[in-house]
Amino acid sequence: MGRAMPVLPATDETIARAAAALAAGQIVAFPTETVYGLGANARDSSAVAKVFAAKERPRFNPLIVHVPDIATAETLAVLGTEARALASAFWPGPLTIVAPKRPESGISDLVTAGLDTIAVRVPGHPVAQSLLQTSGLPIAAPSANRSGRISPTEAAHVEAELGDIPALILDGGPCARGLESTVVSVAGTRPVLLRLGAVPRKEIEAVLGRPIALAEEDAPVASPGQLERHYAPQTPLRLDAATVEPGEALLAFGPDAPECEGPAINLSATGDLAEAATKLFAALRTLDESGARGIAAMPVPDEGLGEAINDRLRRAAKAG
Ligand code: TXA
Ligand code: MG
Repeated sequence: MGRAMPVLPATDETIARAAAALAAGQIVAFPTETVYGLGANARDSSAVAKVFAAKERPRFNPLIVHVPDIATAETLAVLGTEARALASAFWPGPLTIVAPKRPESGISDLVTAGLDTIAVRVPGHPVAQSLLQTSGLPIAAPSANRSGRISPTEAAHVEAELGDIPALILDGGPCARGLESTVVSVAGTRPVLLRLGAVPRKEIEAVLGRPIALAEEDAPVASPGQLERHYAPQTPLRLDAATVEPGEALLAFGPDAPECEGPAINLSATGDLAEAATKLFAALRTLDESGARGIAAMPVPDEGLGEAINDRLRRAAKAG
C-alpha cells in the first residue's frame, strides 16, 4: 500500500540500515538460529512498547534481551557459577538464561515486565550477531509473530504475521533450529526450566550435573509466557493420530505414515528429531493454510528434542 516491501536480504548494507533503525527507536525483524525475532533497543521504552503493540502481547510477559557475548550479558544480569557454566557450554546458541537484573544496566522495565530478573541470550546466527555488533545495542526481541500464533522460521512468515509494521525484515533464510531457545532460570535457589526448547533438557542437566525440573504451569511469575495457548494454527489439531479422517491434513513423523488423501507433510521420514524441529512451525503454517478441516498429528517420541516438539504440539492443540 504505497510502501516498499519490508523484506530485504541480509547484507552488510541492510544490516547497517537495521542497526540505524534500532538506534532511531524503530523495530526490525531479524533471523536467529531458533526463530525470527522482532527487535527493539532494550533501553528505549517507547521502542519496546512498539514491539508489545505489534504482537498484541500482554505487558506482563517479559522479553528476552539479545547480546553479542557473555561479557555484555554480565553487564545486564548477575550470572553466578551455574549460569556461567551454562553460558560457556551453550553460547552462542539457543539457550536463554533468566537471572537477577542489574538495575544500573538501564534496560527498560517494560522489557522485564517490572520483574527483578532479566532473560538474556547470545544468539549464534551470523545475521543476529552482526546486527548486535553493528548496532552496539542490547536488543529485546520476542518471536516475530502475533501473540499466541505460530512462531516464524522464515522471513515470509514474519511478513504474513506483521506485514509492514517492522521498519524492515532482514531475510537470512530458514532458521536452522526451528524451535525457540530453551529458557532456564538461575534466579532462585536451584535452576528451573521455564521453557523447553532447542537445547534438550538432558544437555542442560549434563552441564549442571543434576536433574532440572520444569516450572509449574500455574506459577505465573516464574514463567509468564507459558500461560497462554500458543503456537496455534486456526485449524483444529488432533494429537497422537494413528489414522487420518476424511477432510483432515496429516502432520506425519517417521517411516510409517498412515494413508492420507489430503495435504500431508512428514516432519522427518527417517524419524530424525532435529529435522522435525526445523520443519515443525513451517509445516503447521502450510497445513493451516491448506483448507483442511483439521490436522491429524502423529505421535513424536518424548525424548531429546521430542520433548520440546511435543510441548509445542500440545499448546497448538489447545482449544482457543
Ligand atoms: O528463541 C528465542 O528465544 C526467540 C528468539 C527471537 O530469540 N525469542 C523468543 O521470545 O522466543 P519470546 O518472547 O517469544 O519468549 C520469551 C520467553 C517467554 O516465555 C517469557 O515469559 C520468558 O521468555 N521470559 C522473558 N523474560 C523473563 C523473566 N525475566 N522471567 C521469566 N521468564 C522470562
Ligand atoms: Mg514467542
